Amino acid sequence: VVEKSIRGDFVIPDFAALKAEVAASYEGLKGVDAGHVADYIPQLGRVDPEKLGVALCTTDGQRYALGDADVMFCVQSICKPINYCLTLEEHGTEIVHRHVGREPSGRGFNELTLNGDGLPHNPMINSGAIMCCSLVRPAWEMADRFDHVAETWRRLAGGGAVGFNNAVYLSERRTADRNFALGYFMREHRSFPDNTDLTETLEFYFQCCSIEVDARSLSIVAASLANGGVNPLTGDRVFSADTVRKCLSLMSSCGMYDYSGEFAFTIGLPAKSGVSGGLMIVVPGVMGICVWSPRLDAVGNSVRGVAFCKDLVNRFNFHVY
Ligand code: DON
Repeated sequence: VVEKSIRGDFVIPDFAALKAEVAASYEGLKGVDAGHVADYIPQLGRVDPEKLGVALCTTDGQRYALGDADVMFCVQSICKPINYCLTLEEHGTEIVHRHVGREPSGRGFNELTLNGDGLPHNPMINSGAIMCCSLVRPAWEMADRFDHVAETWRRLAGGGAVGFNNAVYLSERRTADRNFALGYFMREHRSFPDNTDLTETLEFYFQCCSIEVDARSLSIVAASLANGGVNPLTGDRVFSADTVRKCLSLMSSCGMYDYSGEFAFTIGLPAKSGVSGGLMIVVPGVMGICVWSPRLDAVGNSVRGVAFCKDLVNRFNFHVY
């Protein structure tokens, strides 16, 4: 970073101007109070709805954070792209996509539906994410599988905060009738690899959803994806560029649930939301951004997160097309 600042060749040359625009956008978000905190998982319903954290990290390591950027929250569905990357690295595209499709479903994130081949539509909705969990180190002990995922998060966050919220995990597991239904539905259709233990797979999925980050650390995770799989702060290659390209493609088409088409049209950036109100946005080659604000719209995306993205593409030319 020091060398680059002397040469003056940062990916965002006028970082001070970017910070000023993001700060103005952040101030504007405070007045946005539509939506409701997810309460289908009791523990999630207890989060302060007013919380708002924004953080960004460029692919050359410049960082900025505002508001509640150090408050931990659960990644929830933002575990889905990371687990998908892990399955690609482990098995390759062909084997992974014998078990999960890659088309948007056009339906809610937990809808009881499979594609024409009897497979979940894509890895970014619950059914597909449960399927991906069955493919992450299936022969290993549960503890080792979780360590593998948690270690991947730590490498992607490069020293940023990564934790685990056991209360959310227990709360989610107790109230997961729909996810169990999705699991049995897929087992009925023989979608899983042979020898999959369904209960373990579901518990593993709930554990991955209960991994905690803060806005700062999630922005570094996003920056690692923006940087082709290499953490910009540590230089650690966590995923291959090919894996990241596939993941970002599916985040672009499927990352925002049944708002994905509209999001691709208006914002034009790969992103992934979670019911905890987290939103991870990737500006390929430029930076990763996280917005965390717990109130959600009807499809499950953070209201302020989406508002931030709309404002961002008005202020900057980040739409990829
Ligand atoms: O599977 C669930 O119900 C959640 N733990 C994760 C879903 C989620 O984050 C959907 N997001 N909008």
